[in-house]
Amino acid sequence: MGYRVVVAGATGNVGREMLNILAERQFPVDELAVLASRRSLGTEVSFGDKTLTTQDIDTFDFTGWDMALFAIGSDATKVYAPKAAAAGCVVIDNSSLYRYDPEIPLIVPECNPQAIHDYKNKNIIANPNCSTAQMVVALKPLHDRARIKRVVVSTYQSVSGAGKDGMDELWDQTKAVYNPTTDVPPNKFQKQIAFNVIPQIDVFMEDGSTKEEWKMVVETKKIVDPSIKVTATCVRVPVFVGHSEAVNIEFEEFLDEDEARDILREAPGIMVIDKREPGGYVSPIECAGDFATFISRIRQDSTVENGINLWCVSDNLRKGAALNAVQIAELLGREVLKKG
Ligand SMILES: NC(=O)c1ccc[n+]([C@@H]2O[C@H](COP(=O)([O-])OP(=O)(O)OC[C@H]3O[C@@H](n4cnc5c(N)ncnc54)[C@H](OP(=O)(O)O)[C@@H]3O)[C@@H](O)[C@H]2O)c1
Repeated sequence: MGYRVVVAGATGNVGREMLNILAERQFPVDELAVLASRRSLGTEVSFGDKTLTTQDIDTFDFTGWDMALFAIGSDATKVYAPKAAAAGCVVIDNSSLYRYDPEIPLIVPECNPQAIHDYKNKNIIANPNCSTAQMVVALKPLHDRARIKRVVVSTYQSVSGAGKDGMDELWDQTKAVYNPTTDVPPNKFQKQIAFNVIPQIDVFMEDGSTKEEWKMVVETKKIVDPSIKVTATCVRVPVFVGHSEAVNIEFEEFLDEDEARDILREAPGIMVIDKREPGGYVSPIECAGDFATFISRIRQDSTVENGINLWCVSDNLRKGAALNAVQIAELLGREVLKKG
């Protein structure tokens, strides 16, 4: 016996990827409902070799469904997640709506699987921001060995992190550069993204940081350890899929770069590709479609007492969203619901 699973936002970037990953990982699905807004009613989406037709979330009855993987943005989540949770269906949510609620677990299964049992507080589990998810997978095993004091991270985030409209904007603007008769002004992004980089993701906060940067700070604390200080600069780059991060980590204890490399090689969810030769590292185009978070360029930072630098790349639609959500579903199944 398997699970009755709902995927909400099945027509979106993350929703489609959740369907792919549920199929790839052979998640024990007995029945699958795919939902979107009324706009997309009847749209066909793929699940393995099957084609499913989307239903309108507004008229869907969540009663009797085991779990619902949501990727519909915060506004719609605010309306539909409480309905699903009240009907006894556990929501695994990709939006930022519930991540900072102390009663709702925010989970990266490689880091804090024990938090799964807090699902019962509200029948809702939150999935972290894409840039946080890939970073904490690398931080956690290093923190367990040498206690992280401070992290300085600069991100290079792909346009798919802004949904399917973000990908269209990069594509259309890139074509328009070569065919200047069509003008594609910035819409999803604040400035032209084609052949450019933009040091703003999400809105500005009072202290001059952006909300994306703030998310990396508070989510790392909630998932790994509240004592870790994080400062982030988040940048949008003209890459379709795959977020990259340059991460500088300061530890309480000395950690040799070779030991750090060995720890990361053994860590769940991580693939170390770190040859000190031209091309001996991973770039985002190589990580698209992969499950792993790739770590390269591991080296000592001798400008601080106990410092390590590394380069971290992952498919933001996978580890940053859909894969992590499916891993949470697997954890929920294994530890709590115990079917399948
Ligand atoms: N992309 C990433 O890397 C990433 C990473 C982490 C988290 N997330 C989060 O995941 C969520 C989805 O992101 P995305 O990138 O997949 O966006 P997207 O490609 O724009 O897709 C949005 C999906 O939400 C559905 N939707 C929108 N408004 C709705 C409503 N009122 N009722 C029901 N369904 C509605 C859309 O359905 P229609 O086709 O009917 O419009 C579509 O299926 C967001 O909360 C985002 O913050 C994204």
